[in-house]
Amino acid sequence: MELRSYLKERKELIDREILKFLPPEPAFGKRLYEAVKYSLTVGGKRLRPILCMAGCEIVGGELKDALTPACAIEMIHTYSLVHDDLPAMDNDTLRRGHPTTWVKFGEATAILAGDALLNRAFEVLSDWEFDCSRKVRVISEIARASGMLGMVLGQQCDLDAEGRSDVTLEELLFIHRHKTGRLITASVVSGGITGGGSEEEIEALRRYGDHIGLAFQIIDDVLDVVGDQEKLGKNVGSDLEKGKVTFVTFFGVEGAKKRAEEEVEKAIDSLSLFSSQKREPLEAIARFIVEREY
Ligand code: IPE
Ligand code: IPE
Ligand code: MG
Ligand code: MG
Ligand code: MG
Repeated sequence: MELRSYLKERKELIDREILKFLPPEPAFGKRLYEAVKYSLTVGGKRLRPILCMAGCEIVGGELKDALTPACAIEMIHTYSLVHDDLPAMDNDTLRRGHPTTWVKFGEATAILAGDALLNRAFEVLSDWEFDCSRKVRVISEIARASGMLGMVLGQQCDLDAEGRSDVTLEELLFIHRHKTGRLITASVVSGGITGGGSEEEIEALRRYGDHIGLAFQIIDDVLDVVGDQEKLGKNVGSDLEKGKVTFVTFFGVEGAKKRAEEEVEKAIDSLSLFSSQKREPLEAIARFIVEREY
């Protein structure tokens, strides 16, 4: 399996499909529509929807069935970036290779665009014509991962830790597992639910997601220090500037990478109940997470 073309094809699929989930343009207040469309279409790896589709396929489900949860998750992720970049949060100006939504449309519209994306995700999920019990389970999985015991809580903890020198590794792990890990786990798990996976398969996907989710944020911390702004398409050096404690603060660049690699090996081990052919895409994605430069 050739990972580069796999990721490119699937990214392009999501780029096309996600546009179909935009509502019609309103008669007034077009600025909100433009800000939502801008945030959703300027770029992004589409990693979470790709995980959702792969989670569906590994349990024997059909790719097309996962498109709705995949796009809904990408809307939630995009909202989280729009809000994360706001002056009141990380105060960043570059995202996905373009000015951040608040720089382009102003803070108030960026807040509303984030709100709109979050709600749109659940509109799309509730309109999804699919097996009702799986659908409700997917909605619950995504809502919990995103909400006040999930990503949003992680973002609060991230802010609370800013500028403090007494942050423990335990607290940092909590931050990373919540602000980033939970939605990544929900992506692959909701794919597994959609595809009709057994409880055992879904739990394996959950363990896989928890490990790659942590690895993903560790490498995000590393790239903030050693990454190339052009390739990343977002501000580098942002964490140091804001006094954020990261895995690099604790372990240095090489130590952090090593931690991420260990998580990826554990993620791959979690997939042992699937055949080697079936697990190939999720294994390759896990490896990509630590090797990536963007
Ligand atoms: C960035 O996520 C924010 C984190 C949770 C670390 P991605 O690196 O997946 O961003 P895009 O979607 O590709 O822009
Ligand atoms: C962002 O973490 C996590 C969420 C958006 C939920 P970061 O603040 O490290 O992400 P980047 O580096 O701005 O993409
Ligand atoms: Mg942040
Ligand atoms: Mg940020
Ligand atoms: Mg970061």
